[in-house]
Amino acid sequence: MKINSPRGTADLYGEDIDYRNFVIDTARRVFKVFNYKEIITPAFEYTWVFSRSIGEVTDIVQKEMYTFQDKKGRSLTLRPEGTASIARAVIENKMLFENLPLKVFYIGNMFRYERPQKGRMREFWQLGVESIGTDDPLIDAEVIWILNSFFEKLGFKKLVLKINSIGCSECREKFLFEFRKYLKPEVGKLCADCQKRFGKNALRIFDCKKSGCRSVLKKAPSIFSYLCPGCRKNFEEVLKYLEALDINYRIDQSLVRGFDYYTRTIFEIISEDLKSAQNALGGGGRYDNLLKQLGGPDLPATGFAVGIDRTIMLMKQLNLKIKKNEEKARIYLIAMDKNCKLYSLDILRYLREEKFLCDINFNKRSLKKEIKWAGENDYDFILIIGEDEIKNGSITIKDIKKYRQYQVNWENEKEKIKKIIGA
Ligand code: HAM
Repeated sequence: MKINSPRGTADLYGEDIDYRNFVIDTARRVFKVFNYKEIITPAFEYTWVFSRSIGEVTDIVQKEMYTFQDKKGRSLTLRPEGTASIARAVIENKMLFENLPLKVFYIGNMFRYERPQKGRMREFWQLGVESIGTDDPLIDAEVIWILNSFFEKLGFKKLVLKINSIGCSECREKFLFEFRKYLKPEVGKLCADCQKRFGKNALRIFDCKKSGCRSVLKKAPSIFSYLCPGCRKNFEEVLKYLEALDINYRIDQSLVRGFDYYTRTIFEIISEDLKSAQNALGGGGRYDNLLKQLGGPDLPATGFAVGIDRTIMLMKQLNLKIKKNEEKARIYLIAMDKNCKLYSLDILRYLREEKFLCDINFNKRSLKKEIKWAGENDYDFILIIGEDEIKNGSITIKDIKKYRQYQVNWENEKEKIKKIIGA
């Protein structure tokens, strides 16, 4: 039997874990300075949470959800995204009565039954923020500011922020009327999926990547031209804040995004270095009606999510390095036999309590090979404990980076040891 994980899933280990921790640590630091607090919600919800939020006729709800019945026949779904769950959680836990906006962030695995390809998985990881309780355009700008700072801190330089406004339900109603009128004589040229969308969810046609549909859309009216004065003004204010923050953006009037909950400002951050259709690293927008739609208070909100896996993929492609946060030296202790291991425990305990990354040899390699291995594996110091060291109560310390060697007494020269290894 071939041993493999389910299609579209991956094991993460080694270098990927280093990247992942760096990405998550960076996000946490950025979220903290903007005063966002962490929230953890379950990996599955009652199915209605997603169908009612994301929209019954979206691709995600129609084709991509992992839905199953539990033993009592209740319909449950593995979360395909975080926003709907957060909305459910803040309503249920009555988190919306204190100081608004409520600012939360989350990190979690998401599940979508999509065709796996480079940058597109069935289980993938997102980190995101949601800000609930104000429609002040400054919060739209703040959320984009966070996204921008996060990618800057990871070392990205050439990302593109695409932004659009899809207005409120009134703007959308007027636009859809005209859009359907335009599409009617062209329906036959659309793909089968878009023909279905034409009846139920025409806005989604803008999401289609098929060339036939794209050429039909070339002369289509854009929702942007149908914005009501309120939505237009709101959008202009968001852009003004972005300019004041020196955040580059590109207005893309064909940007719609695949969720029904969006209103007004929506955005996506893409990389032109990712030469595939999966070039969006993150996306988000305002969702002013979702809370009410789920039975909660009538409060506006906005947020974004970033794909962690895709971000790591691009970091590797662009050779962006992880900045190590460890300030303390990395130490490898080589104990020559069992007796030496026993003697070394005290030393290991001391160094680990002092918060050094400290490991001991478990392989049956010669001393020469152990030293070579430690040098190749990014250690700063090697500590050698052999029979002589036990006899003298000493430690041999090799500074690999500076090619120096010291002999120190373990019991009486702790300060000297600390000085050598840079405590
Ligand atoms: P989304 O655009 O569907 O938005 O997902 C955000 C990011 O998750 C994408 O830009 C992409 O990097 C990553 N992603 C999505 N699907 C996959 C996949 N199959 N494999 C790998 N990565 C993927 C949302 O999920 C919204 N909830 C964002 C939001 C928050 N809007 C308001 N608040």
